[in-house]
Amino acid sequence: MLLVINFGAQYCHLISRRVRDMGVYCEILPYNVSLKQIKKLNPAGIILSGGPSSVYEKGAPISNPKLLSLGIPVLGICYGQQLIGKQLKGNVVPNKIKEFGKKTAKINNKNKLFKGLKNKEIIWMSHGDAVEILPEGFITLASTDTCKNAAIGNFEKNIYGVQFHPEVTHTPSGNKILENFVFNICKAKKDFNIKDMAAKITKEIKEEVKVDYVIMGISGGVDSTVAAALITKAIGKRLYGIFIDHGLTRKNETKIVKERYERLGLNIKYVDASDIFLNRLKGITDPEQKRNIIAKTFIDVFEKEAKLLEKQCPKIKFLAQGTIYPDRIESAQPSKQADRIKSHHNVVLPKGMKLKLLEPLKDFYKDSVRKLGQEIGIPEELLNRHPFPGPGLAVRVIGEVTKERVKILQEADHIFILELKKNKLYSKVWQAFAVLLPVKTVGVMGDARTYENIVSLRAVTSVDAMTADWAKLPYKFLEHVSNRIINEVNGVNRVVYDISQKPPSTIEYE
Ligand code: XMP
Repeated sequence: MLLVINFGAQYCHLISRRVRDMGVYCEILPYNVSLKQIKKLNPAGIILSGGPSSVYEKGAPISNPKLLSLGIPVLGICYGQQLIGKQLKGNVVPNKIKEFGKKTAKINNKNKLFKGLKNKEIIWMSHGDAVEILPEGFITLASTDTCKNAAIGNFEKNIYGVQFHPEVTHTPSGNKILENFVFNICKAKKDFNIKDMAAKITKEIKEEVKVDYVIMGISGGVDSTVAAALITKAIGKRLYGIFIDHGLTRKNETKIVKERYERLGLNIKYVDASDIFLNRLKGITDPEQKRNIIAKTFIDVFEKEAKLLEKQCPKIKFLAQGTIYPDRIESAQPSKQADRIKSHHNVVLPKGMKLKLLEPLKDFYKDSVRKLGQEIGIPEELLNRHPFPGPGLAVRVIGEVTKERVKILQEADHIFILELKKNKLYSKVWQAFAVLLPVKTVGVMGDARTYENIVSLRAVTSVDAMTADWAKLPYKFLEHVSNRIINEVNGVNRVVYDISQKPPSTIEYE
């Protein structure tokens, strides 16, 4: 196995996923993990992640320097490289020019880390500090015009550092670099695969739950559906699913989810809580406030329903969740380590209920969850559906969320998605949706003046949602969608297409 030591990078679990994709098991541990625990796990290699801090900042996350003398190969990424520089007595300074984005680096490819790379490569930078004076025994392995030590290495100690991010797709040879580290330097073996995992998970659920009952909140998304289907395979109708309809779903979504769950034989109670959600959102325009209200309302409604069920069935002993690996890592982050960009809500334990957590997908990334879903017969249409945020359309109706505004958005979004599917573009993009903006503009329809809403269309390509590019959808297609929305959706007289990348924008607007 390999270890990723987390210094609060936004990209931390990407590194671990890349390694798992190579067939090598990988775990993420916090920066203050003890040497004893590391030795116990006996990893073939350690990757030090990036992070938002500066190594000289007060309170910056600093791992035990002895980690660098365990004889285990180490690769430091960005902050990880700077930490190596500092702990091995080099010199780290704020770079004169902060570098964000694509750069070209001159590469020394005559070594194990960069074997197979060209002597010039595009790399993706995101940093303020840099290693200026190398620690003893290190040499420079790559440089850019503004960063002398874009990569460094000590071949004798097998310690390497890269100032750039090999884990993001914007570094085209990044995966090759990670592969070189994992296989050429750490000599790890490919022995992690998810085949037969479904049977193994089902067996584990049976052993854990025994004769008891399980409750679970189900959202209609991939993770909770796959988890619920696995639990159902293991214990049948002893799983009580609760589906809370917050009224902020896509057009017809609740109906589709119901039909799908019936076909899968899941035991689900549907709760229409749309009025409660809308009431609590009245007058709220701040994105974080919206997210917090929705998260709290979910908990309130879920707790009420769970307690009702508990009264009917005292044998409920477990609360199941579709938590996947990145959720766990993100929830475990001390606030200092990861800059909070948006509050996601996933981990919920009803107050006053003494339930054990059952999280059958807690060690898996999304792509593995999809493969598991395929193995147990979940329809492709669901598995390949675009991600949808927990707070639903509330974060796509910018400004106040009202029934009328949700309806306008649902109609516009429906046309966009339908046309994407019809034109075979849906699966070519990572995610697509419409957003209702809180501004009105003037238009002319027939001979009359209109003063109506703007709908923004957002479609992005991405591999993991950590970075994203706007999708280059054909003009003709966009024109057709725009015409349809303006003609068919009451209350919209203008459609715009969003051409922002992430970063610096995010995929969702709130
Ligand atoms: P951003 O907007 O941060 O979104 O670029 C990255 C990805 O996460 C999805 N997203 C969420 N998913 N609960 C979720 O389960 C949430 O609260 C949430 N907010 C955003 C977003 O749709 C995109 O795929």
